[in-house]
Amino acid sequence: MDMQLAEWSDKLEFGLPRIDSQHKQLFDLAATFAGNGDQIRVMKSLVMLSNYAKVHLRDEEEMLASLKYPELEAHKRLHAEFKDMLIKLLDNARQLSLDEIAKEVQYLIYGWFYNHIMQADVEYVPWVRTHSLKALG
Ligand SMILES: [Fe+2]
Ligand SMILES: [Fe+2]
Repeated sequence: MDMQLAEWSDKLEFGLPRIDSQHKQLFDLAATFAGNGDQIRVMKSLVMLSNYAKVHLRDEEEMLASLKYPELEAHKRLHAEFKDMLIKLLDNARQLSLDEIAKEVQYLIYGWFYNHIMQADVEYVPWVRTHSLKALG
């Protein structure tokens, strides 16, 4: 699969503070996997990353559900795909080197998640803007 890898930048910001900060938080967490670390710390970070991701995906889905976003089901399927990849990585992490884990995290956040924000999340922004001012807070 051809997937662009990219770090956090301003163009990922929608002007929806809670969503933006949750997105950025995941990039910040992914950055902690670069360089050295010990197995225990990396496993802890991985659990934290996957918990943050789950919270974000759930919050986003709840926001979209409350605004009756018409593409919610398709969007949820994309999130389910991401959750499956995270679960798989958590399951396999003990058999992987720290470098391999870092590479997987980079693919998941700088690859999959980056592309998800740029291609799928971006699609709901006009709907959110017109259907709720509450979501801005
Ligand atoms: Fe999303
Ligand atoms: Fe998102």
